[in-house]
Amino acid sequence: MSIILIGFMGAGKSTVARLLAEDFIDLDQLIEQKIEMPIAHFFALFGEKDFRRIENEVFESVLQNQAVIATGGGIVESLQNVEVLRSHSQVVFLSADFATLWERISADKVNVRPLAQDKAAAQRLFERRKKSYEAVADLTVDVTDKSPEAIVQLIKERWEMK
Ligand code: S3P
Repeated sequence: MSIILIGFMGAGKSTVARLLAEDFIDLDQLIEQKIEMPIAHFFALFGEKDFRRIENEVFESVLQNQAVIATGGGIVESLQNVEVLRSHSQVVFLSADFATLWERISADKVNVRPLAQDKAAAQRLFERRKKSYEAVADLTVDVTDKSPEAIVQLIKERWEMK
């Protein structure tokens, strides 16, 4: 059974996934391999709807793997994905308040996030998605003042991973 990490942009999903399993699956990376361009370029060329379609395809294609999967913050935008997450039993929600997440997003000069160009719009997205993350999570970890290592420790304890 895979461990699926969910949460808003800036929550640290990829960092935590890497610490949980070296050979973790990063959905955004797989999507970029498939579309052969950075996600931000794809958004600019084709828009969000096409991105969500590809995100859904890639997500479904990795579900059979027994792996740690880091999703993108918008995985809950598709009802189909929400249903998959709901029926899955090892979904970890990395939760934090918006101020913390926005600070991290703003400090990240490597990842260009098309849906985080405007603070107010990003905050609206955050408020809207929060309930979906909570609804499908089997474990919620407040990441606000925790190091990635501490978060990993909590997840391992919960699922007795050695
Ligand atoms: C998105 C989050 C991004 C990436 C894309 C859309 C979103 O992933 O999938 O830019 O809708 O929240 P991260 O959560 O890893 O930044």
